[in-house]
Amino acid sequence: MSNPASDIRNQFPGLQNTVYGRPLIYLDNAATAQRPAGVLALQAQLGERENANIHRAVHKLSVDATNRYEAGRSAVERFLNVDPAVGCVVFTSGATAAFNLLATCFSARYLQKGDQILISEAEHHSNIVPWQLACERTGAELVVVPVEEDGTLSVAEVEKRLTNRVKLVSIAQISNVLGVVNPVREIIAAAHAKGIPVAVDGAQGVVHAACDVQALDCDFYIFSGHKIYAPTGTGILYGKRRFLEEMPPYMGGGDMVDTVSFARTTYNTLPLKYEAGTPNFTGQACFVPALELADTLRYSAEVKAQERAIVAYLAEELLRIDGLRIFGLPDDLSTKIPLFSLAVEGTHPSDLAQILDKLGIAVRSGWMCAEPLVRRFSDRGMLRASFLPYNTMAEAEAFVAGLQRAVKMLK
Ligand SMILES: Cc1ncc(COP(=O)(O)O)c(C=O)c1O
Repeated sequence: MSNPASDIRNQFPGLQNTVYGRPLIYLDNAATAQRPAGVLALQAQLGERENANIHRAVHKLSVDATNRYEAGRSAVERFLNVDPAVGCVVFTSGATAAFNLLATCFSARYLQKGDQILISEAEHHSNIVPWQLACERTGAELVVVPVEEDGTLSVAEVEKRLTNRVKLVSIAQISNVLGVVNPVREIIAAAHAKGIPVAVDGAQGVVHAACDVQALDCDFYIFSGHKIYAPTGTGILYGKRRFLEEMPPYMGGGDMVDTVSFARTTYNTLPLKYEAGTPNFTGQACFVPALELADTLRYSAEVKAQERAIVAYLAEELLRIDGLRIFGLPDDLSTKIPLFSLAVEGTHPSDLAQILDKLGIAVRSGWMCAEPLVRRFSDRGMLRASFLPYNTMAEAEAFVAGLQRAVKMLK
């Protein structure tokens, strides 16, 4: 088949790397993506020649920097199809920062003793721990919906927990361990039917699934820039205005204020009310080239076909390895993204990952910041290989061959 990845690969200098004298096969994309030349060039340009703080000064450099920063926000709004009358995009330093903002401010405004926050068993720590902290502060409790054996999340299981004590559902669009697209649209509809708002963790979903916030009708949508070709230290909290208006600010400081006196401070309008201090203006500006590329890739039929071929290939070939289990393998492979977490009987995932590393293949191993979920399926952690459109079928084949070799060495 034709190989769309080879054109895309040329845009990523990081992929030209070698490790231990071998060409790098980078399969740790669910942790962070490599950055394209367009993003690297803009970062360098802004740092070298156009560095000035935003929203503060009248001089040209500052005005230009402000425009770049706000262009980054507009790029995110376009990518998520935000209706500006309904919602807006708050910049954060990443998904974790966005969840901490949301859990702190939402709980301060809406949570009381006895209330509940509903999450799934397959959440990343950043969609667990901030809620635990909020529950400790307010006396609310965390309710967890289990996932099915095949890694899918049942709408019925969510629905039966939607009592009038639940004040928010906070759920991953795609788990970073299971790689299965959750039925978030149906979950949102079920929650809304009972007047319950829904926050979606789009850290993986924004890369691999539909993230039109109007179509989803989610109340909050969260993701990190670095998983979708933007620099680290970038991220967003999309929220509906009615909640963002009602919730108190998160951090206090410059830019988030309207007027300050020792007697009383009033706050800036949205979204700046939630953006205290000097933000990562260079990084957020880079959403423009990052999302331009992501936008091209998400509508490419060739990219889609290659992704489906890699999923089908791995679902079949990995299972030929004796004692190998894949976690998150639904019958309907159309909901599976090219992310495979696995364990092989009689081997430790970290040992396998170390052998693969020596072959130039970068994968993740361990608890993957989703310890409760991983422990349910495997007491030694897991090994995860995750693909982006720049990965080739040849790399998928090399991964399978490398894994076979590593298993043979360890058994
Ligand atoms: C599903 C999911 N949620 C949240 C996060 C947290 O993202 P970050 O570490 O960039 O804040 C990740 C990162 O791996 C993730 O995969």
